[in-house]
Amino acid sequence: MANVLIATEKPFAEKAISQITAVLEQNEFSYQFLEKYTSKEELLEAVKEVDALIVRSDKVDEEVLKTAENLKIVVRAGAGYDNVDVDAASKNNVVVMNTPGQNSNAVAELAVGLALYGLRNMFSGTSGGELRRRTIGLHGYGYVARNVHRIVRGFGMHPAVFTRYSRTQAVSEGLQVTDSLEELYAMSDVVSIHVPARDEHIKSVSFDVLKHLRQNAIIVNTARKEVINEDDLINFMRFRPDVKYLADIAPDRIAEFEKHFKGRFFFTPKKMGAQTIEANINAGVAAAEQIVKFLQNGDKTYQVNK
Ligand code: 3PG
Repeated sequence: MANVLIATEKPFAEKAISQITAVLEQNEFSYQFLEKYTSKEELLEAVKEVDALIVRSDKVDEEVLKTAENLKIVVRAGAGYDNVDVDAASKNNVVVMNTPGQNSNAVAELAVGLALYGLRNMFSGTSGGELRRRTIGLHGYGYVARNVHRIVRGFGMHPAVFTRYSRTQAVSEGLQVTDSLEELYAMSDVVSIHVPARDEHIKSVSFDVLKHLRQNAIIVNTARKEVINEDDLINFMRFRPDVKYLADIAPDRIAEFEKHFKGRFFFTPKKMGAQTIEANINAGVAAAEQIVKFLQNGDKTYQVNK
């Protein structure tokens, strides 16, 4: 009987947990949970005997992979797998998967909510602006950005996108696709960032890109802080007091934002994009099903360390 560990420092909703366990029980898998843990030692202890691991943003590094001697598969219940050392997993013959698309509507709704909150001056009682007729620039066009696109059309926004990998898809959906990131930022009242924390996307939001932003622009980041060049963002916000930054994760130099940019930034206290009951169910159940299919039939769909 295969043994699955669900290790979530930030737990899934109860409804998601009952559906995840139902999938595992139907397939006669045993399971255990490690939730709200506060030290790596707890994770190291818990992974020792398991065949499969479900995580969220939990760090799965080389030490965790080596300690988990029976481990065959790690599924990141979510999109970004920058928390998993995929090279170490490959070296240890562990398959790594994510669950693409499963939590993307939740993240997209948060992105639009942050844009609205920023445009309304953080509900501070001062006159703000409306989404309607403003241009939203989608930086990247994966599952989350596609949901943002669907939602903002309802608000009457003008969407545009810069994408290297999903150009055909974006064009087929009637989107204006720019030839460069600079061009996208130059035409946007709101920029919404939707690229993963890897390769050319790391620090891709630099001063040289930001300097093109329109007056009173709003930057929304529901992706990762690593895609922003934080020094450049701070310099840019000092030079352009009209610009706001709202993100689903606090930057490293939060004290500087508090000191210099009062009323111009907002950070969720904990990553909240995928923290809805629906997204927890979608991503958690998909993770459990992917583990079952892999361990029973060798199905490697969604493997990211090929
Ligand atoms: C993702 O990459 O899927 C999101 O950032 C969600 O992360 P979380 O599972 O830690 O909420």
